[in-house]
Amino acid sequence: MTTTDKNNRPSRRALVTGAAGGLGREVSRQLLERGCAVAICDIDAKGLADTEQLLLKQGGEVECIVCDLTTEDAPQAAVERAVARWGGLDVLVNNAGYGVIEPFLEATHKAWTRTLALNVTALAMLCKAAGRVMREQRSGRIINITSPGSRMALPDYTAYTASKAGVDSITRAAAVALAPYGVLVNSLAPGMMDTEMQRSTEMEMARINGRSDLQAFLDERTQRIPLGRRASVDEIAQAVVWLCLDAPPYMTAERLNMSGGLDKD
Ligand SMILES: NC(=O)c1ccc[n+]([C@@H]2O[C@H](COP(=O)([O-])OP(=O)(O)OC[C@H]3O[C@@H](n4cnc5c(N)ncnc54)[C@H](O)[C@@H]3O)[C@@H](O)[C@H]2O)c1
Repeated sequence: MTTTDKNNRPSRRALVTGAAGGLGREVSRQLLERGCAVAICDIDAKGLADTEQLLLKQGGEVECIVCDLTTEDAPQAAVERAVARWGGLDVLVNNAGYGVIEPFLEATHKAWTRTLALNVTALAMLCKAAGRVMREQRSGRIINITSPGSRMALPDYTAYTASKAGVDSITRAAAVALAPYGVLVNSLAPGMMDTEMQRSTEMEMARINGRSDLQAFLDERTQRIPLGRRASVDEIAQAVVWLCLDAPPYMTAERLNMSGGLDKD
């Protein structure tokens, strides 16, 4: 249930992008459980409607925003929708992401453009739009979802890994830009979670590597993780929510590894 202040307005207001499934849906659910009013945003109208139903059943205030975040005005409009409803924004989770497997020497302009438009440009514009609201409030937290891949050489996934290196760069810059106003900006790199995105990515990886036994291929990848298993969306969402609501206020410009030991500082 959404917790309210003395004027009966939600005391914490969040916007989660890419909330139609996977990690974004679970982060939204946990934020609502913790008393936040939650605006959910995605290009997938059907998946987002399912998330909305799930959240409304749980009880609390939800704003549903269907949009393609790669269009020029969409990031600003998404932030404005949340602010118009609740009068401010305390948390932004930049979770929407796109990636496609493509061997480096067969890279296409289309794949690079689509990947960078969402993972880099839209994310930066969302940080800017939310950051301007949070600057006026003199408070707020932004969490960008990056990837262990941002620091790896993955020649079949370069547009994606380059885009996530961009996320790391934007996180550092936004953290410095917003620090004078008490706004914190951090990122989190999740390990392998069996979401829709991960499933289709690994099927394509197996295909281009000529691996017909998909399960054996997946098992080998899982064995590379020091903890010996993949992450659940639930446990990754717990860490995202910790950054959103509980992390100490001196923590900013940080990149949190949640990859079972795969990615190490
Ligand atoms: N699954 C993993 O193993 C893994 C590992 C590392 C990082 N990540 C990152 O975690 C985040 C969540 O991914 P996920 O695994 O839950 O995958 P997912 O595919 O379930 O979630 C991504 C969401 O982004 C939405 N989206 C795509 N294009 C959009 C657009 N133009 N406008 C608005 N929304 C759009 C999709 O519809 C989808 O709901 C992503 O940033 C991803 O890169 C995932």
